[in-house]
Amino acid sequence: MIADKTYLIENTLKVSERSKVSPETERKLRYIRREENLKPVIFVGAGTCGLGAGAAETIAKTKEWLQINQVDADVVPVGCIGLCSSEPLLDVKLPGKKRISFEKVTGDKVESLLSQIFAGQMPEQPVLGQFEAQEGQEPWPGVNDINKHPFFKPQVRIVLENCGIIDPVSIEEYIARGGYKAYLNTLKVFTRSELCDFVEKSGLRGRGGGGFPTGKKWKFALATEADQKYLICNADEGDPGAFMDRAVIEGDPHRLLEGMMIAAYAIGATKAYIYIRAEYPLAIERLVIAIEKAKEYGLLGKNIFGTGINLDIVIKKGAGAFVCGEETALIHSIEGKRGMPRPRPPFPAVSGLFGKPTIINNVETLANLPTIINKGADWFAAMGTSTSKGTKVFALSGKIATTGLVEIPMGTSIRDIIYKIGGGIAGGKRFKAVQMGGPSGGCVTEANLDIPVDYESLINVGAMMGSGGMVVMDEDTCMVDVAKFFMDFIQRESCGKCIPCREGTRRMLEILESITTKPKNRETHEPLARFKGVMQLEQLGRVIKDTSLCGLGQTAPNPVLSTLQWFREEYEEHVFDKKCRAGVCQNLREYSIDVEKCTGCTVCAKKCPTNAIIGSRKSPHYIIPDKCISCGACMEACNFDAVKAS
Ligand SMILES: Cc1cc2nc3c(=O)[nH]c(=O)nc-3n(C[C@H](O)[C@H](O)[C@H](O)COP(=O)(O)O)c2cc1C
Ligand code: SF4
Ligand code: SF4
Ligand code: SF4
Repeated sequence: MIADKTYLIENTLKVSERSKVSPETERKLRYIRREENLKPVIFVGAGTCGLGAGAAETIAKTKEWLQINQVDADVVPVGCIGLCSSEPLLDVKLPGKKRISFEKVTGDKVESLLSQIFAGQMPEQPVLGQFEAQEGQEPWPGVNDINKHPFFKPQVRIVLENCGIIDPVSIEEYIARGGYKAYLNTLKVFTRSELCDFVEKSGLRGRGGGGFPTGKKWKFALATEADQKYLICNADEGDPGAFMDRAVIEGDPHRLLEGMMIAAYAIGATKAYIYIRAEYPLAIERLVIAIEKAKEYGLLGKNIFGTGINLDIVIKKGAGAFVCGEETALIHSIEGKRGMPRPRPPFPAVSGLFGKPTIINNVETLANLPTIINKGADWFAAMGTSTSKGTKVFALSGKIATTGLVEIPMGTSIRDIIYKIGGGIAGGKRFKAVQMGGPSGGCVTEANLDIPVDYESLINVGAMMGSGGMVVMDEDTCMVDVAKFFMDFIQRESCGKCIPCREGTRRMLEILESITTKPKNRETHEPLARFKGVMQLEQLGRVIKDTSLCGLGQTAPNPVLSTLQWFREEYEEHVFDKKCRAGVCQNLREYSIDVEKCTGCTVCAKKCPTNAIIGSRKSPHYIIPDKCISCGACMEACNFDAVKAS
């Protein structure tokens, strides 16, 4: 492979202002991109999700097969292409043929797949498709173009462009695909202020949740005089249900670095931090390699490509507290203090890290920048809705047929995301709601499925874009339980600095726990008192939102308020009828014993923690309802199917 550093610098990076490289260089770049290959290449999706599905064994078995059969081939671990539910994914690129992708290739399938494909036969393994963008390469007959796959067809991949396609640890491959040109052109073409204008004109808004216009935010830092400015990449990704930032870093770390370089130049920062949770070891490993390689190429360090620009990027590992994603808490954490938010103003753009002007941007925001520079502000602004431009990456999870990462133009309807891309609800169940925006967000119901995804329309229906988590729920989901899950998360993650957030969220959780638990003492838990709890949820929610210091508390009641708005009858059933229609709130179940089936074996009575079961040996047993706490132990223990729950 021609991966010579000097060659790439001389022939691609240094000629970056020219629109085209020479035909000879282009030919060599095709080899680096493995579009033309002299020996077979096997790509395995080995992001965290792929590894979770067994990719490590797939790689080991592939290497074993190649060795036994004495086949000389490259094995390249790549990031996640987005189709998590089909992993492990294995692609084969034979010399002269198009790259072809197979799904669910666990270790045990490797031998038969490779034996068939290297014998010139089409393997039996389900095929995802072949890659069309490989001119001059012979197609596989009867195999669809991968871009026509229902999961990929409606997507427009900017941020995810290279994920699952390229070798993430190869800077040469990134450069051969046009990488770092945007940065070097930026240094040559734009003044800092022109760059801020350009990005503002593109309409790019922060993808970390708040949706603040990126170019506009940069201008505050640019306009602040200081001897030192900082850029911070927020890779904390604390939302349950969100994994897009991790996937971008694992699959294409150089795209993030290039975005950071562009943003650092825009504000005049010479030092940048990547704040990333320690639970992302693979992403950190790839970033360390990427930073090292970028330094080797002279893209980081002093006097970058003779422009007089200096930039250092360092990684700061966080301990994984949700509140540390909040920008002022994050700054404290980097400063070595406890990660607690502080009131704003002053905003970090004016006084941030170590009191210096600091811009904090999300991974996805930054990863958009190289393409915006390459393709133009107008190109980006032409995509999306009037207020929200470009694309957004969503993480699809929950009761959806296809889970994974999708990148779609803003304005796509939620229905299209769930049904066209995600394949609808798993197991033929009925759709109930989709939770968007994680702990700050809310639910979108059937009635609102046709709204376009953009910042404003989601807020209008009580949900939120957040960082892009979409958790799909079917008829078997209890919405009170969903609210309880988020409230439990939030009250544990509250930093405790302000009382409404610290105490209020705990009180909200207590109320939710009380309505999802059977009253122990009927006298003190009259339905009216429980109903009062529901009323208090709304009041408490409003107070917490209005009086909390940071975004965590200000949005914490949203999942509860949203489920109350759309699923109030479920709350009322829990309160008045002590029933959970989805059967999820186990503590509300009424247990009884079918006397016809009971053999009187006494096993259940021995297991019951509250001595609620009576009966003598070899005669039917009974449950005393007032003593039963609905733990379900008797049902689990009975071998005769005699215990019933209603
Ligand atoms: C409790 C809380 C957690 C947050 N977590 C994250 C996070 O994990 N990643 C992120 O980019 N932004 C997070 N944010 C938003 C950031 O504070 C900040 O607005 C964002 O990083 C700015 O980048 P952007 O303009 O590119 O969106 C969080 C905010 C709050 C209040
Ligand atoms: S709102 Fe909650 S998380 Fe934010 S500062 Fe107050 S106590 Fe801490
Ligand atoms: S375990 Fe089942 S069969 Fe045995 S006493 Fe209990 S209910 Fe009856
Ligand atoms: S559900 Fe639990 S508490 Fe109730 S009778 Fe069965 S074992 Fe006892």
